[in-house]
Amino acid sequence: MTGRIIGITGPTVTVNLTDIKLYDRLKVGHGGLQGEVVRLADDHAVVQVYEETKGLGVGEPAQPLGVPLSVRLGPGLMGQVYDGLQRPLPLMGEKFGPFIRPGCELESLPADSIWIFTPLKKAGDTIEAGCALGFVRENSFEHCIFAQAGGVISAIAQGEITLQTPVASLEDGTQLYPAHDWPIRTPRPFRRKLPPASPLITGQRVIDFFFPLSLGGTAIIPGGFGTGKTILEQAIAKHAAVDVIVYVGCGERGNEMAEMLEEFSSLNDPWSKRPLAERTIMVANTSNMSVAAREASIYTAVTMAEYYRDMGCHVLLLADSISRWAEALREVSSALEEMPGEEGYPTYLASRLSGYFSRAGVVETLDGKTGSLSMILSVSPPGGDFTEPTTQACLRASGAFYMLDTSLAHRRHFPAINWVQSYSLYAEEVSKHFTESVSEKWEELKKKGMALLQKEEKLREVSEIVGAEGLQDEDHLLLHTAGEIRNRFLCQNSFTEDAFSTPEQTALLIELIVRQYEEGSARLAKGEDLSAILKEMK
Ligand SMILES: Nc1ncnc2c1ncn2[C@@H]1O[C@H](COP(=O)(O)OP(=O)(O)O)[C@@H](O)[C@H]1O
Ligand SMILES: [Mg+2]
Repeated sequence: MTGRIIGITGPTVTVNLTDIKLYDRLKVGHGGLQGEVVRLADDHAVVQVYEETKGLGVGEPAQPLGVPLSVRLGPGLMGQVYDGLQRPLPLMGEKFGPFIRPGCELESLPADSIWIFTPLKKAGDTIEAGCALGFVRENSFEHCIFAQAGGVISAIAQGEITLQTPVASLEDGTQLYPAHDWPIRTPRPFRRKLPPASPLITGQRVIDFFFPLSLGGTAIIPGGFGTGKTILEQAIAKHAAVDVIVYVGCGERGNEMAEMLEEFSSLNDPWSKRPLAERTIMVANTSNMSVAAREASIYTAVTMAEYYRDMGCHVLLLADSISRWAEALREVSSALEEMPGEEGYPTYLASRLSGYFSRAGVVETLDGKTGSLSMILSVSPPGGDFTEPTTQACLRASGAFYMLDTSLAHRRHFPAINWVQSYSLYAEEVSKHFTESVSEKWEELKKKGMALLQKEEKLREVSEIVGAEGLQDEDHLLLHTAGEIRNRFLCQNSFTEDAFSTPEQTALLIELIVRQYEEGSARLAKGEDLSAILKEMK
């Protein structure tokens, strides 16, 4: 059944179709633009269109596809660069030129690449949907091929396959293929959630030491313009100790994404020493692309991330920035003439966000493995005002908060994470882990380091009142040490060798600074001269 367009408002169109479901996909217009049903009424449906609606006319056809907006999951995802609708951008560029015409389509996965399939099941085995039939090798890891239906296996492949070859047949005649579609707004199932406990090493000292994230945890990085959100997200994407990175460039500048792509094709993962591109999937919906597709892009990304989690991988999803997603949501909502909430955002902004964050976690998969999905999302509050709705909604839903501070960024203290206001709900568990596996002094050093920074703050206030002359030698030693912690420990220039620090290096550096302080302090107590001590500390 084909319908007609009866109205167009910005990124949404109204069609005279009734026999369709919410979130079903449609093709609208002569160009076949992709869209998704977002509202149903008695005699019409409203469709969110993921491509530029300019040039679309009333009366043009609307073709329902009978399936929800989905991503294609299977071997070949790794290393790809997709747009928000999972179209492979480099291939699109080759085929259609730099400007994607609305309605153009390409397979998300290379249909005729050859993979070597190793079965884990045999004919006669009874299987359930979600179990691994076998695997193919994708770069350095084993890419599981999951059964999409349960039953008794009558035949199973071995050796060379393509995505068009069935990997197994069931006795009831069902053919099982190596790739399948999954609706992006439906979280993929798992057996149960497990509590997050082990650390996600980011390589950033200030995070790993003071505000650590756990595998399966969620963190946000709110910061005003130029405070270093993008550089920090990218530094973590390069260095985090995880199996898979899914990076969403969401509504930010396209040239940043292009530079990142170039860098990723030449750099190696510091842990596996393999090219970074081999463990990374990128989703780019930059500021020059369609707003409505940006709304979908974060779901496209998280569904791919869950798919790798289901293989027992540790997956980290990074998005820059979630505020641009919220703005896209606002734009669509206003085109739908919904009742606006705070600052024009729809009233369901917070519930959508918390629903999104809840797709993170450590899980026992349907196949009995343990996998995790962690998230680090940047937030760009307009004017750096953290009381605005998106920042607040993210704050409530996430487990860690890395607040970027404009005054630190002005002083070129990068990453500009404010150490007084940031926090991590995972800190206690994760620090315990580091204390066991990295340094038995980890927790003790953390307390001492933070205490020094806090005392510095107090001393600065005091010296503003009484002047530097009012300070004791002990105070000067403390100020010097706190300065060392800030400049040598908390700061990490992303453009130098220091961009990445292992937990061992992190522990050694802070131990050195704290030890020098304690030794200096003991020498002062014995009556030694401050200037001699400071000189030796340099
Ligand atoms: N970790 C860092 N090391 C060195 N320079 C940084 C770092 N983080 C940010 N900067 C500097 O700050 C500038 C702005 O950072 P960027 O990440 O683009 O900010 P935002 O995304 O918050 O607008 C960068 O171009 C760079 O000069
Ligand atoms: Mg940025």
